[in-house]
Amino acid sequence: MKKNREFHTFRGYQLQKEGKRQMTASMEDYLEMIYRLSQNEGYVRVQQLADHLHVQAPSATKIVQKLAAAGILDYQKYGLIQLTEKGKTMGKYLLERHTVIENFLRIIGVEEELILKDTEMIEHHLSTSAVQKIKLLYQFLKLNQEILALFKQFTGGEDE
Ligand code: FE2
Repeated sequence: MKKNREFHTFRGYQLQKEGKRQMTASMEDYLEMIYRLSQNEGYVRVQQLADHLHVQAPSATKIVQKLAAAGILDYQKYGLIQLTEKGKTMGKYLLERHTVIENFLRIIGVEEELILKDTEMIEHHLSTSAVQKIKLLYQFLKLNQEILALFKQFTGGEDE
């Protein structure tokens, strides 16, 4: 079997990914939200972050400290969270990845109430290559409404 066709367990892939990037799914969620919230002001407070993620402030602080240790943000106790350049680059990608998947699920007709949860479940586990192709497929479908219409017809046009 060719090297690139070797199968691994789900956990195996996770470990490979973590080994490479040191980012857990929850660190990614936090970074994505920090990036979102700090776009206007350039910073975000822990309480504000906790509110948006529906977690308690001490839990948010724990992850924020991990992100600080990974060089992704600057944070002092009771202070403000500010992304480093590395954090901004990564946060921008995470937000784009989320948007790409969410837009794609919507355009293929996944029910609205499932889209956000599905996006959150999928996003951490896709390669950059898969994200890029999904983005292109989304753009292709948007630009070719007649193909999208054929697809909707094919699937029964549920969301017409
Ligand atoms: Fe997300």
